[in-house]
Amino acid sequence: MTDINTLALHAGYDPTSGGGLFPPLHMAVAYPYDSAERGRLMCLGEDSGFTYSRVGNPTNDILEKRLAVMEGGEAGLATASGLAAVFMAVLQFIEKTKSEVVCSGRVYGNTKNQLRLTWPTLGVTPRFVDSPHDLSAWEAAINENTAVVYVESPSNPDVFVADVKALADLAHQHNLPLIIDSTLATPVFLRPLSLGADVVIHSATKYLSGHSAALGGVIVGQRDWVEGIRNGHYHFVGPTMSAFNAWLTLMGIETVGLRMARAVSTAQKVAEFLAAHPNVQSVNYPGLPTHPQHSLAIAQMGCGGTSLLSFVVEGGTKGAWAVLESLKVIIQATHLGSNQTVAVHPATTTHVRQPPEMRQAAGVLDGMIRCSVGLEDPGDLIADLDQALATIE
Ligand SMILES: Cc1ncc(COP(=O)(O)O)c(C=O)c1O
Repeated sequence: MTDINTLALHAGYDPTSGGGLFPPLHMAVAYPYDSAERGRLMCLGEDSGFTYSRVGNPTNDILEKRLAVMEGGEAGLATASGLAAVFMAVLQFIEKTKSEVVCSGRVYGNTKNQLRLTWPTLGVTPRFVDSPHDLSAWEAAINENTAVVYVESPSNPDVFVADVKALADLAHQHNLPLIIDSTLATPVFLRPLSLGADVVIHSATKYLSGHSAALGGVIVGQRDWVEGIRNGHYHFVGPTMSAFNAWLTLMGIETVGLRMARAVSTAQKVAEFLAAHPNVQSVNYPGLPTHPQHSLAIAQMGCGGTSLLSFVVEGGTKGAWAVLESLKVIIQATHLGSNQTVAVHPATTTHVRQPPEMRQAAGVLDGMIRCSVGLEDPGDLIADLDQALATIE
């Protein structure tokens, strides 16, 4: 059993065990001990079993096991959101004497905000690599205080594709771990651990869940390391995914392979349409031969690898807003990976808290529209974009 569609339906749960064809939802907060001694051992993390849902829950456990197997990792940990997964994974590598994070400058706006605004209040310094395609720029940012190397690939919103193997090799030459946020590709298109990454995180809110009904995140890595988070900072801070959201996410994951294949194939058609449109200055989509990492994307992911794309229209913010306000099928929303196609203007939404120079450095131009292609008919989406683009004066 290795195919991702089979794993998405079977890994981590045996439906013949009496629990039902679909995994049960366990909403209980506490799990009684069968003896005082076992309670002591479990609370020390020296015996397995569930004690309290902040630390572990039978429904979350199925999700964690399923995603660990799908990623080819040893263990998983479910968090309340993608940003909680970013935080807990980075935190686990921070030491008093090693408190710098070398991070791609091309990351989701609020991942960047967490690194540049939240972490410094805790004594941690981010070092952003604004040219993440250039390995020598990563090398230059690493120093003796570096605790971890962090990349997002493909990245939101400019869809940069990292050479995961080369970056993992570089991190390891410096005895550093590599964390990758693989939200946009999902394990359907990218298995970063097999390319040398040490930790994979996801915003499960996006493609994994797919139905826009549950926030969540997940961290996958080596068992001792993951259980170290669970029995340490996770236990003390409480960034746990609710069991209900884990259950909804399990429901979404059953179809992630089918949904991703459909959405990526439609995204390719939409990207090709946009690239040929006179009111579009440029399109960021790894499936297009003009994308700077097109060959890498094909080699690593076999295709564009995600259904997120961004494009820059004529007329800057005015042009972008005119397009967004004219859309009839595509919905304006700050989200991605949903079954419905959604679009947003990053410069005035997801990146609005960043100074203009920082946005520009991250490739977020004023005329950029980010579009997460969903499951609608490709012709309907293209017709909608066509009529909306015609409104640019
Ligand atoms: C690539 C990426 N990582 C992490 C996050 C944060 O996820 P969440 O909204 O679940 O906290 C997002 C949100 O858009 C994202 O796009």
